[in-house]
Amino acid sequence: MKHLLAPSILTADFGKLGQEIQMLNQSDADWIHVDVMDGVFVPNISFGFHIIKTIKKLSTKPLDVHLMIVQPERYFQEFKNAGADLISFHYEASIHVHRSIQAIKELGIKAGVAINPHTAVNLLKEVLNDLDLVLVMTVNPGYGGQKFIENSYKKIVELKEMIQQCKSNTLIEVDGGVDLNNARKLVQSGVDVLVAGNSVFAAQNPLEAIMNLKELDS
Ligand code: DX5
Ligand code: ZN
Repeated sequence: MKHLLAPSILTADFGKLGQEIQMLNQSDADWIHVDVMDGVFVPNISFGFHIIKTIKKLSTKPLDVHLMIVQPERYFQEFKNAGADLISFHYEASIHVHRSIQAIKELGIKAGVAINPHTAVNLLKEVLNDLDLVLVMTVNPGYGGQKFIENSYKKIVELKEMIQQCKSNTLIEVDGGVDLNNARKLVQSGVDVLVAGNSVFAAQNPLEAIMNLKELDS
């Protein structure tokens, strides 16, 4: 499978959100990555249901919602109602990870678990078959524009092996500090979905940046 690209709307210019989403609609991007931060699980606060509903209304691409919030299970239904096509919650933020995964799937949408840089991939072994996606954080969550953590490659290779061993279709997504310097190596290591914030929205030509991150092989 060719890898997917999910630009992170967190880094977009919210003063012209409509235009930014139009640009994504016209681009080669596959999903829109939507970062929700509560100021508790991570130091930063981003946005909530109202903004996500607006993004959904304007967008032609699926919404990949990344919850960086404590007790995420309280809000799955509301994020689905706001327009989420896939919800990832953090392993570190949920006591009953298996139950949370099932709760998302019962809503009829895809379920993902995100892991922080310090969290070992083998902790997901027992739920891997239930998951549509594992989101490997390649920075500490909270902000866009941070430096990619090199130790991540090792985690991705290990996770890919686990997925192949249990013959599951679980996708690997990486999030944080992804750019043209590391994207090819990430895909070669087994990544299926690249999230990109700064490397798209801070680029002089975001459409071209998206195209380059999609066409790594050529
Ligand atoms: C960080 C967020 C990321 C962020 C990525 O906590 O989860 O999705 O927007 O931004 P870049 O690509 O700039 O690191
Ligand atoms: Zn994210």
